[in-house]
Formats: sequence, structure tokens, C-alpha cells
Amino acid sequence: MEFTFNFNILDKKTNTCAIISVFKNKELSNIGNKLNIISNNYILCEINNSGLNGKINQSLLLHNVPNIKYKRLLIIGCGNKKKFNINKYINSINKIINIIKNTNIKKIHFFLTELNIYKLNIYWKIRKAIELIEDKLYVFNKFKNKKKTFNIKKIIFYINKEKNINLAIIAIKQGIAISNSIKIVKDISNLPPNICNSSYLSMRSYRLQDIFPDKIKVFNINEKDMKKLEMNAYLSVGRESENESLMSIIKYSNHKNINKKPIVFIGKGVTFDSGGISLKNHYKMDEMKYDMCAASVVYGLMVAIAKLELPLNVIGILACCENMLGGNSYRPGDIIKTMSGINVEIINTDAEGRLIICDVLTYVKRFNPEIVIDIATLTGACIIALGNKINGLMSNSNTLSKELLNSAKISGDCTWLLPIKEEYKKKFNSKFADIVNINNNNSGGAIFAACFLSYFAKNYKWAHLDIAGTSHYNNIGATGRPLYLLIQFLLKKSKIDIPLY
Ligand code: BES
Ligand code: ZN
Ligand code: ZN
Repeated sequence: MEFTFNFNILDKKTNTCAIISVFKNKELSNIGNKLNIISNNYILCEINNSGLNGKINQSLLLHNVPNIKYKRLLIIGCGNKKKFNINKYINSINKIINIIKNTNIKKIHFFLTELNIYKLNIYWKIRKAIELIEDKLYVFNKFKNKKKTFNIKKIIFYINKEKNINLAIIAIKQGIAISNSIKIVKDISNLPPNICNSSYLSMRSYRLQDIFPDKIKVFNINEKDMKKLEMNAYLSVGRESENESLMSIIKYSNHKNINKKPIVFIGKGVTFDSGGISLKNHYKMDEMKYDMCAASVVYGLMVAIAKLELPLNVIGILACCENMLGGNSYRPGDIIKTMSGINVEIINTDAEGRLIICDVLTYVKRFNPEIVIDIATLTGACIIALGNKINGLMSNSNTLSKELLNSAKISGDCTWLLPIKEEYKKKFNSKFADIVNINNNNSGGAIFAACFLSYFAKNYKWAHLDIAGTSHYNNIGATGRPLYLLIQFLLKKSKIDIPLY
């Protein structure tokens, strides 16, 4: 897709579709008004005839409007003008793409950039539009002999001031880089588990140092290394699988102070989660190939950071293995000494994510991190609590959780803070070891999982994002989320964050 911008209100080319907005009570936007005057009030008459009154999600597609050379004019209802906000902007663009993608429209002149959104400027509006458009037009074609494609090839964003040119250029550059990374994440996450195993993911990671030789170094830790490190919890989970457990460490160094403490991201990379001996139900078990979505998000995040050349030190860790069952599986009742020294009694082998991550949380201490963020498709309970549009966030630091919530809001990756309650942590007492891997509460599972992890996340600011619901949905596949949130967080940390307003 080609993205560009201009100051024009009328396009000379005839094959373009212009997109304008109308608010409640048929109030046209500025540009809408101008076009309406040029059309001798034709646009407003058509709006009246159609019954469109500007409510959110309404739309009207006009052809051959008098005096206007655009082949088509798409009018989108944007609701109450004073209440127009981030979410309505996002919804309107999603609606537009749903309409456009089933037509033969090749080129769009996009005027929603003229709308006021509280505290957000043209940079944000253009960048977000690019991200949403690319997101909506994604298809996973790899295993289809008949590939699906769309006709739309070019988007022109309207900007109204000379002084916005620089912001538009940066927005397009960043929007494209972020969208490309989202596509990479989706492509990897959607792969089947017979292809996307630990060695596939570590091979992809390893190649990053050839693509970005100045800034990226990659180390792969195999089972032999993990044994030496005493990462016994991680090793137990992957022990029965034919695919070796592998942890990829992607080090990106681009801070002017090379000793600057890094920000570390850990992604759960269970390439298939059968549940192990605590076997899952067969219903939708195929979806457990998505249990590596978080690792794939961390991979995509590292690509985006490198493409945007962020002035930071960041370490991305893909914690990969496969949870299978057989004669060599770990079992309920086993007691495992984790890398931290804490002995964990296994009650359920399907609560494997926390066992992998707990050892990585201990391992990362060697990097003396400023911040550690783990991302995981950790609990079905998080889906029950928050559905599939909201990430669960848990943290041991108020400042970190505030920063993440702020990035979530700006990026559109909805996120909700859940508490790590001290009283709940006591529920992990074990009769035979230090702690159990699950307690027998059947409620609050997302919080309890974070409570377990908090035993290991010591001596640094730590946040945990449960993305079991948001990383994939059954009808659309992988979403690439929460990459938008994480890159927004890092743009802010880079202090090259563009003023949003
Ligand atoms: N990978 C699952 C969580 C999951 C469930 C992700 C559904 C995406 C969709 C995780 O390993 C798991 O099985 N968790 C258990 C924990 C339980 C045994 C405490 C769960 O959620 O049932
Ligand atoms: Zn599981
Ligand atoms: Zn899992």
C-alpha cells in the first residue's frame, strides 16, 4: 500500500474515492461543507434522501457527485461532534475499510484527518489510520492455493497546514514500520505448530543479527544450557516434546550510554499447549498453536525497534517450548526446584506458562534490567474477566502500570489493571514444597497467575500482560496485539516521541 499526503480538497484524478464525515443532525465536517457547496448542495440533499443523520457507524456511498471529479464519495457518520474521540475515530476507520475492501476502489482521499480529537494531533491521526488500514486488510494466505487480495492500493491523507508536513512524514514512516511488524507477528502466530516450533522461532530470531548487524545480537539457549543454569521449571514443561526447548535472547543496543540498564520483554512461546498430563479438552485444542503469540509479539517488537532505530537498550526474550504428554512428561505431584531456588509442587501441568516464565524472570536478573515486562497467553480466566478486546495488566510498580495504561490508551490496545493482592499470594502455600503452581480457587485465575509470577519478579520494576484473549480470536486469527501498546511505550521512553498535541 502506498501512503502519502497533500493539501488538496479536490482531486483531479477521477478514479479516487473521497472520504468525509458527517456529525449528528447532518452536520457536515469543514471539508464536507466545502464539497457540498461545490456540488450545489447535492451532497446534503442525498444525505436527506438517504435517511442518514450522522450517527456513528452510518455510511453513504455516492457516485458521480456534480462538479466533483471524485468517482465516489463515502460519507461516514461520526456521531456527536463534541464527543468525537479516539475510539470513535478507530471505529469509523474500521467501518470505512469494511466498506472499501469489497469494492473496486483503488485510491482513497482521506479527510477524517481534519477532525478534532481531544489531545491528539495530525501525527497520531495519520499513524493510527495507517495501522488500522493495514490491520484490516491483512489476510493469511500462506497455505491457500487461491490467494485473496484487495483492490485498494493508495491512501492520500489530507493535511491543512504547511507546518504539519514533518509530522505527516514521520507518521507515515512510523505507521508503515509498525504495521509491517504487526504483519510479521500475525504471519508467525498463524503458522501451524508442525512448522512453527521452538527451532523455527529461534532460527527467525537468529537471523535478526544479519538484518540489523550494527544493533542486534542474538543468543540461543538450548536445553543443555538450561540444565547448567538450573532452569528446571522451564525444562520440565518441554521435556516430553520431540522439539527441543529453546530460549532466544535478542539484544538491541542503541542507547548513547552503552551501560544504560535495558528494558526486557519476555514472551511466552509455547508452540503447542496440549495441557500435558492435565490434558486439555479436544474442543478448540487446535487454537493452542496460538500459545506462542506473545513470543511472536516480542520478535515483531524487536524488528520495529530496530527499523525505527529507537535510542534504547532493549532485550527481547522468546521463551519457547512445547507442552506435550507421554512417558517422560512432568506430572501433577512432581516437585521442581526452580532457578530461583523456590521449590514448586506441580498441581496442574496445564499451568505451564508460569513455570516457563518464572525461570526466565530469574534468568533476566543478570542483565540488571530497569524494567521487565512479560507477555503471555497465560489464563483462560483472563478471557472470562476481560473478554477478547482487553489485555490484563498486573504489576509491582504503580509508575510502570500508569505508563503502560497511558500507552494503551493512546495506541488503542485496551488494557485493564488488575491487582496483585498480598492475601492471594498466601494461597500458594504447599503441603510438600514452598509453593504450588495452581491453588484450588476456581475464581480470579488471571490475578492468581500473576501472584505466582510475583514470587520470582524481584529487584526490578515488573509488569505482566495477560493476552490470552486479545492475541487471537477464532474467526480472524492472530491480531499482533499488544504490539501497538508496547511500541508506544518505547517511543515514549525514547524521548523522540512526537508531540501528540
Ligand atoms: N495457554 C493456556 C491459557 C489459554 C487458554 C490461552 C485459552 C488462550 C486461550 C494456559 O497455559 C492454561 O492452560 N491455563 C490454564 C490455567 C489453569 C490450569 C489454572 C487455564 O487457563 O485453564
Ligand atoms: Zn496450559
Ligand atoms: Zn499455555
